[in-house]
Amino acid sequence: MTKGTFLITGASDGIGAVYADRLARRGHDLILVARRADKLEALATTLAAETGVRVETLSADLAKAEDLARIERRLREDAAITGLVNNAGIAGETTFVGSDPAYLTGMIDLNVLAVTRLAAAIAPRLADLGSGTIINMTSVTALMPDGFTAVYPATKAYVLAFTEALNVELGEKGVRVQAVLPGITRTPIWTEEQLAGLPAEMVMDVYDMVDAALTGLDLGETITIPALPDNADLDAYLDARRALRPNLSRNRPADRYGA
Ligand SMILES: NC(=O)c1ccc[n+]([C@@H]2O[C@H](COP(=O)([O-])OP(=O)(O)OC[C@H]3O[C@@H](n4cnc5c(N)ncnc54)[C@H](OP(=O)(O)O)[C@@H]3O)[C@@H](O)[C@H]2O)c1
Repeated sequence: MTKGTFLITGASDGIGAVYADRLARRGHDLILVARRADKLEALATTLAAETGVRVETLSADLAKAEDLARIERRLREDAAITGLVNNAGIAGETTFVGSDPAYLTGMIDLNVLAVTRLAAAIAPRLADLGSGTIINMTSVTALMPDGFTAVYPATKAYVLAFTEALNVELGEKGVRVQAVLPGITRTPIWTEEQLAGLPAEMVMDVYDMVDAALTGLDLGETITIPALPDNADLDAYLDARRALRPNLSRNRPADRYGA
């Protein structure tokens, strides 16, 4: 009995490569996607030899329309794929006024557009199947748009909101949907110099991060924050947001606006 194939984006390095390792060890066949074919091939060879699962690689630049369309097609048509780890993403912007608009566009294409379209490609099949998994990699910066840069946290806030909404629709059909919010995690997204400048107690090992996120998936969490010591803090945040709801849409402006 096959455990189903996971397609993992951004699997050539960092968090995605560790998902590949962990999901292979759980017995899943894999399709690894990223731009660097040589890195994907090396990882695929190692994982296949160590775990015995089937590992295929697809080189694709997910910020490019034609490459994205190719991966979407595969997700739509390949019934063996029952899991998606929507992980590929870039950061790296400076100040907003100092940013190259072309770079920001590429970031939105990868962090937002590709994530949405890949989920859209697999979701109808998983909904019909009544099972399967979609893991979307976001970031704790989704919860602190005033504490980092401008566009990257906004892309991650999109992915968090998107995942929560997707869970409402797909969760009741039996599909597992999870948003993972890592804090600072030791991967090549950071330079060694940047990491050296950060307090060590704020930087998580990438294996610890992914193992915690997969435990969160096993626990049935929709939102997993690997570093958060007490999940009651997340519940309080969500409760506070829910408490706003009854007053967010009314037939007249609030008194303080003098209407
Ligand atoms: N590390 C952290 O501190 C941290 C914290 C919060 C959230 N995250 C999120 O976690 C995810 C993974 O980050 P990471 O730290 O593992 O970064 P990473 O080490 O830089 O790896 C990024 C992966 O994405 C792939 N990628 C980049 N651009 C791509 C493109 N245009 N098309 C296809 N694949 C592309 C890269 O492979 P190629 O270069 O071969 O294409 C690589 O496999 C990202 O979404 C990031 O925002 C990371």
